[in-house]
Amino acid sequence: MRIIDFRSDTVTKPSPDMWKKLKSLENSDLGDDVEGEDPTVNELEQKAAKLVGKEASLLTTSGTQGNLIALLSETKPGDEILVEERSHIYKWEVGGAARLGGLMVRTFPSNRGSFIPSKLQTLIRHEDIHEPTTSMICLENTHNDHGGIALPLSLFKDTNSFAIKNKLKIHLDGARIFNAAVALNQPVSEFTKYVDSVQFCLSKGLSCPIGSILAGSSEMIKRARKYRKMLGGGMRQAGIIAAMPLIALESNWIARLAEDHKNAFRLYKGLLDSDLQIKVQKPDTNIVMVEFSENVPMLKVVDLLSDAGIKAFDTGQRIRLVTHYGLNEDDIDYGIERILETFKKFFSSL
Ligand SMILES: Cc1ncc(COP(=O)(O)O)c(C=O)c1O
Repeated sequence: MRIIDFRSDTVTKPSPDMWKKLKSLENSDLGDDVEGEDPTVNELEQKAAKLVGKEASLLTTSGTQGNLIALLSETKPGDEILVEERSHIYKWEVGGAARLGGLMVRTFPSNRGSFIPSKLQTLIRHEDIHEPTTSMICLENTHNDHGGIALPLSLFKDTNSFAIKNKLKIHLDGARIFNAAVALNQPVSEFTKYVDSVQFCLSKGLSCPIGSILAGSSEMIKRARKYRKMLGGGMRQAGIIAAMPLIALESNWIARLAEDHKNAFRLYKGLLDSDLQIKVQKPDTNIVMVEFSENVPMLKVVDLLSDAGIKAFDTGQRIRLVTHYGLNEDDIDYGIERILETFKKFFSSL
């Protein structure tokens, strides 16, 4: 059966050029990265830092690890951090901030990821003897759970002013920051110049098999390197992992994310063409959210899709469909047919 995998851009596999780069490695391209001696990792970290306009960067095993290391490096146990209520750090990172960082995590609401930072002033806690210290605010761009929304530069600027006023660090969960940059036609450094640290994923839209980058000041990354070791993320001849991202960080590869966005829009348009009881959210980037009403049993929808060869995740009363390097226009068109067919079958069975 033909399978179309819309679950995530994490299912992507490397491009032929990435394989070529990996196969070209020789022993002299490898060293012990815990000792800072792997030339391929060092090259990647320098290239990544430059791309996001930071002094230094660190290869981490995953986005979750990169985010957690940023929190550990920039806060103290007992501090409070502010995160948007549907952020990945709050919803999907196993509570690591609390368990491993000793942090109070305070959430705030948003309008599909957007918010007015100055309106968070009453959440700031510093002075009273009874209170913890608010020391960080986190941003997420694109915002996954709001459907891959690309948040604008103005939010970054305003958050930066708010953070300076309140002596907060800003960490950006930029798992998909390149999608935002491409969608808003801005260099990624325009976003990252407003934050103290940024994590971006190599293993999502950029199609590499493993890893993330955490970037920030040299001092911060020095601390981060130690926390990575503490978390068991110190890797040895990690040039094997770093080789493919060297290709992924080239500008033409980043620019191809626009194709994923085009395909997401095609998918959205195709799914709109129905009189079914669903709401399809217009995508900014590579994520299409299909909303169902409250009493719909979503596991059944996912199972039926799977029977039709369509892999997708449900997130609450929604099906999340993600476009990526592994899917072309033909896959999208085939996917639209199978999805609509399945939804019809589902609704007629209710
Ligand atoms: C916004 C966001 N942040 C962080 C992560 C975590 O990345 P990883 O799966 O590499 O831990 C994800 C993964 O889906 C994500 O969507």
